[in-house]
Amino acid sequence: MQLSRRITHLTGGGSDGWDVFYRARRMKAEGVPVSELTIGEHDIRTHASILAAMDASARGGHTGYAMVPGVASLRETVAKRIQEQTGVPTTADNVLITPGGQAALFAAHAATCNSGDTALYLDPYYATYPGTIRGVGAVAKAVQTHAEDAFQPRAAEIDAAAEGAVSLLINSPNNPTGVVYSRETLEGIAEVCKKRDLWLISDEVYDTQVWEGEHISPRALPGMAERTLVVGSMSKSHAMTGSRCGWIVGPAEVINHLINLATHTTYGVPGFVQDAADFALNAGAELEEEIAAPFRRRRQLAKEILAGQNTLGLVPAQGAMYLMLDVRATGMSGEDFANALLDTHHIAVMPGESFGQAAAGHIRVAMTIADDEFAQALQTLCTFATERANAVAAQ
Ligand SMILES: Cc1ncc(COP(=O)(O)O)c(C=O)c1O
Repeated sequence: MQLSRRITHLTGGGSDGWDVFYRARRMKAEGVPVSELTIGEHDIRTHASILAAMDASARGGHTGYAMVPGVASLRETVAKRIQEQTGVPTTADNVLITPGGQAALFAAHAATCNSGDTALYLDPYYATYPGTIRGVGAVAKAVQTHAEDAFQPRAAEIDAAAEGAVSLLINSPNNPTGVVYSRETLEGIAEVCKKRDLWLISDEVYDTQVWEGEHISPRALPGMAERTLVVGSMSKSHAMTGSRCGWIVGPAEVINHLINLATHTTYGVPGFVQDAADFALNAGAELEEEIAAPFRRRRQLAKEILAGQNTLGLVPAQGAMYLMLDVRATGMSGEDFANALLDTHHIAVMPGESFGQAAAGHIRVAMTIADDEFAQALQTLCTFATERANAVAAQ
């Protein structure tokens, strides 16, 4: 039987640089002790107080169909949060609750792209981006960012790629680079969006993990609220990855259409999960800081360890739970480095090449294991890189 091109071409085919990740998982399953610095998932579980709120809601009977746009109270809480962040008047009518940020990314592209339209995204990118765009039948077109700019996008290059495009997807704080876009970068992007009449889809799922600088939502910039769709999530801010609760915030007209889409796809998000999310968001900044604290700590540890060597370059680690390291001084690609590190020291990292072309010659290190194991692994990684670089220099 025939399958649709849309589904069979979702991932684009070919090697996607994830081999090292699957190899690490196989080694672990065979009993090899592997330090996994690969996946963007906390090493803590959802906070007990959030689970208690979820339990109380479910036992209180909130286990039937929930309102498709989202529970009224959670929509209002998200609206208030976004209004506080951006200064832009925001009500529940601007909010759709989705099963995680990923579903919001898909919905945002479904709302803005016709079949065959070009949708832009920035390289390096979060692994699902091109497939999400292809999933709505649009053509995914990457715009490169550059290691020498610390991966801050160049507005002029987005502008040059924007002929005929309908949308641009950005992500700050960024996965995989850990970079937070500056006001200057975002203003440049906003100008291009207005000039080229692009929708801006702004993935802000790491907005509570900012170590340096400030998180600026482009929704806050002049003339942008009407063309920006903000994607948010409970996954990273509240260690609720498995609860699948996120949102999309944008003009009420877009949200109305997206409620229709949700009616015909997800039919909403479990009510008890939404009540737990509402509780968590209202628990305030202290809880968010508690959840972000391990990454803030490990980033500091990493800076101290990396200061003791000069082989690996650290891309400014301004936010999110990752470090991006430049391994080019070893003479190896990110993929070769990651494979050799796994073989010799049983440390798994992601090759930069698994996030596109712009991060070739880099590796992404997730700060998602306990502090002492993390420090030990990073120290070993540095020694390994220095030995490799010395061997290259001696040739
Ligand atoms: C940049 C980025 N966007 C979106 C997501 C999806 O998050 P979720 O669907 O769990 O909200 C992730 C998950 O790792 C991510 O890193």
